Amino acid sequence: MMKKVLYSALLGLTAASALGATPVYLDDTKPIEERVEDALQRMTLREKVNIIHAQSKFSAPGVPRLGIPEIWCTDGPMGVRPEVLWDEWEQAKWTNDSCTAFPSLTALAATWNPEMAMLYGKSLGEEARFRNKSMLLGPGINIYRTPLNGRNFEYMGEDPYLISQMVVPYVKGVQSNGVAACVKHFALNNNEINRHTSNPILDDRTLYEIYLPGFRAAAQEGDAWTFMGGYNLFRGEHASYNPILMNDILKGEWDWDGAVVSDWGAVHDTPSAVKGGLDMEFGSWTNGLTNGASNAYDNYFFAEPYLKGIEDGTYSETELNDKVRRVLRLTMRTVMDRNRPFGSMGSDEHVAACREIGEEGVVLLQNRNNLLPLDLTKTKKIAVIGENAIKMMTVGGGSSSLKARYEVTPLEGLKKRIGDKAEIVYARGYVGDPTGEYNGVVTGQDLTDNRTPEQLLQEALAAAREADVVLFFGGLNKSNHQDCEDTDRKSLDLPYGQNELIEALAKANPNIAVINISGTGVAMPWAKDVDSILQAWYLGNETGNTLASVLLGDANPSGKLPYTYYASLDQCGAHKLGEYPGHKGIDALGNEVWDMPYNEGIYVGYRFTDKNKLKPTFPFGHGLSYTTFEYGKAGIDKAEGSKEDEFTITVPVTNTGDRTGKEVVQLYISDKKSSVDRPVKELKGFSKVELAPGETKEVSITVKGSDLGYFDAEKHAWVVEPGVFEALVGASAGDIRTKTKFNIR
Ligand code: BGC
Repeated sequence: MMKKVLYSALLGLTAASALGATPVYLDDTKPIEERVEDALQRMTLREKVNIIHAQSKFSAPGVPRLGIPEIWCTDGPMGVRPEVLWDEWEQAKWTNDSCTAFPSLTALAATWNPEMAMLYGKSLGEEARFRNKSMLLGPGINIYRTPLNGRNFEYMGEDPYLISQMVVPYVKGVQSNGVAACVKHFALNNNEINRHTSNPILDDRTLYEIYLPGFRAAAQEGDAWTFMGGYNLFRGEHASYNPILMNDILKGEWDWDGAVVSDWGAVHDTPSAVKGGLDMEFGSWTNGLTNGASNAYDNYFFAEPYLKGIEDGTYSETELNDKVRRVLRLTMRTVMDRNRPFGSMGSDEHVAACREIGEEGVVLLQNRNNLLPLDLTKTKKIAVIGENAIKMMTVGGGSSSLKARYEVTPLEGLKKRIGDKAEIVYARGYVGDPTGEYNGVVTGQDLTDNRTPEQLLQEALAAAREADVVLFFGGLNKSNHQDCEDTDRKSLDLPYGQNELIEALAKANPNIAVINISGTGVAMPWAKDVDSILQAWYLGNETGNTLASVLLGDANPSGKLPYTYYASLDQCGAHKLGEYPGHKGIDALGNEVWDMPYNEGIYVGYRFTDKNKLKPTFPFGHGLSYTTFEYGKAGIDKAEGSKEDEFTITVPVTNTGDRTGKEVVQLYISDKKSSVDRPVKELKGFSKVELAPGETKEVSITVKGSDLGYFDAEKHAWVVEPGVFEALVGASAGDIRTKTKFNIR
């Protein structure tokens, strides 16, 4: 007994615990807040400082003395990243860290199906849990402000309402595994060019109406346990410790109790990071040896410099305690939750989820002459053309790059699905990026091709001429400037001469479908010359099988665009009115900044094309099916109500074609009379319904009066003005089928 008491004194435990009672912080029958307080009061100052900064590239140390475990994180957001070395980005070369690569988040958003987001989050969270991670660095939900943003493929599109509906189930799904979702990059990290020095300039109304709602939903409805700050600046301070974003809004107005994590290397000084609401510092520099210390992590802004500052009275321990509480809460919710499931990896269920989400996310943009789905009773020879038919895409793109267990390319998927029912002839057509390596992970493909562009063209044209149908697989490819972190695209055009190639192929054979693999919009000057266009995203392991199933009609496409597909950059407010990439300036401390006025304000995406009556190539929300849907007349449950009321709009929708399909019925609201300038319409509801041929369903969508206001910056409040509102129901922002009205008193 004597020995036990002494031991417990050493551990700082109470006499009661020494006699066998579980200390409160370890007792998971106790509320988390009690456990957090108990752990906090046992910790030394140094231990407190230790748990708020990294000990390696992707982990923080916990409190070994108290048995409080390390926190391990992983990218995110589309699969679990392979292990890197302790101090460096290089691969650790494990052989058991290959993951299921899920479709990119734009593909998920394009499903317009919150159930798919739940399935996605749950499946991905299971893989993270199996790999013993406490924090998954995703989802990414920055707004699609410009189609040039190199990371659009990691995000969920342009509309705050759609993002909010999709992010909440994703977060809940991940966290149901006892793994924290880390919602990133809060906030305004909407471009990669100059990403460390970009300084968006926008008013509060724009901030609250466009750039914050997704994050608010993730914090308040999704109960996300962590948030990651951005690299960019906002009103003179870095986003990762921006007092307005983190203190006033996230932790203040939204009353959020989670932990804010810096982006990797986003912290620049101790005082600002301490005051600005940051809770954990990661990635500040890499190699412990080159930074001139035996352990570079001691030099983190939240390590020795912070400790010294507390000891000499520069900072208060109260401030530190708040950070520590948040990190302890994260630990208790994740790695110290004894009831969390064990997770799983590479299961059949995850493969099925990857496939199902992909199939629901692919968007049929155009389908003239019903070229698709391919009819194998008539189509006997298929020319598959384009590099993206053979290129593996799970590797590349930046921190979201994955080491996938396998990846089926489009050509492989088609061959497997079609078998000997038709002949497939492949021609490369162009050489884009023959490499296949990111951060030490290699695809193993050798795509070197030394033929001249002319030789490649002639081969492709010959294949096209002889075929019944041409399937062109092109787009971007996650290499630099082509959907890739740290670089934006240089133009809206497809790279590597694809526009010219598609034009030539369409002349050689008009029965052509273009399958565009990208995570963002591209210019399609050839749209009128081709029959069919599919927006195919990055679809993960199951890419080829997913696309084969859509192209052959095993799956009926039901995806809808989560962003406006501009014909030119001129149609995008950020480029027409805003500055991009901004202009160079110097901040108060003499550092370079790139001021980027968001002159387009709230007019992002369809809000801009609506206002200016522009006709994009394809509108937000657009997506066809192999069947057709007819909308009846919209009705409403009450013609008048107060702003506290709910209004339910109902519309009968009928499948008028001959195959089962799903339609996303979209509800936009228009404030007919307002004292301020408001968008022509805004998405406020949607519902995805499955209909058998000939079947009709009454689709009901409910909106709250209180959700229909604008943000009044002066009052710092949402204002719903009385008057007439119009409910517009349709198949896209550009295809409103029926309307009704209601009055708010
Ligand atoms: C990215 C984050 C990512 C982190 C860790 C950063 O460069 O911006 O999204 O989670 O690296 O890899």
